[in-house]
Amino acid sequence: MPASIEIVPGIAHYPGYLDRAAQEALRDALREIVRAAPLFQPRTPRTGKAFSVRMTNCGPLGWVSDVAGYRYQPHHPDTGAPWPDMPEIVVQAWAELAADAPRPEACLVNFYDQGARMGLHQDRDEQDLSAPVLSLSLGDSCLFRVGGIQRAAPTRSFRLQSGDALTLAGPARLAFHGVDRIMPGTSTLLTPGGRINLTLRRVTRIG
Ligand code: SIN
Ligand code: FE2
Repeated sequence: MPASIEIVPGIAHYPGYLDRAAQEALRDALREIVRAAPLFQPRTPRTGKAFSVRMTNCGPLGWVSDVAGYRYQPHHPDTGAPWPDMPEIVVQAWAELAADAPRPEACLVNFYDQGARMGLHQDRDEQDLSAPVLSLSLGDSCLFRVGGIQRAAPTRSFRLQSGDALTLAGPARLAFHGVDRIMPGTSTLLTPGGRINLTLRRVTRIG
């Protein structure tokens, strides 16, 4: 198993999980994914307010958000096309870091420009909450915040850097988490900067 730091029980941080060559290969694979499944602008249910991140997905299911609500669906919200396949690197990361879980069904890809952030939230749109959420980061570092499974619980923040992996599992599968801010100029992987985060999830229950 690669080296990890336990942030709190259930949250493991794997600094430098992907080496530079793997980060470049994943970045290049994502270019193809965005060509097939262009970035879309998610909106908050009900209010219709635009998120500061743009998104796409790969894998059989993709997470989308619009005025009708949050959900997983097998096709792109704008083009109607099925999502492209997940790159081999992320499938391998799941096999290594979520070894006991059934195969992942969704890989959400978030694009953060310098001013983007993500408010504290839980990932709870999945039927199967036994599998971990696996996150992979590329490009500029961010200040990532995690709390407990109640919104009011104390939080702590730490940096996620390009190549880092993080898992939310077991007692922390429903932990609140978010991105306080991006740290511009901290990576040379992406031109013209910014951050990409991929989160892999199992969505449906088996059987
Ligand atoms: C998310 O929670 O959807 C994204 C987390 C991240 O960007 O690191
Ligand atoms: Fe999340």
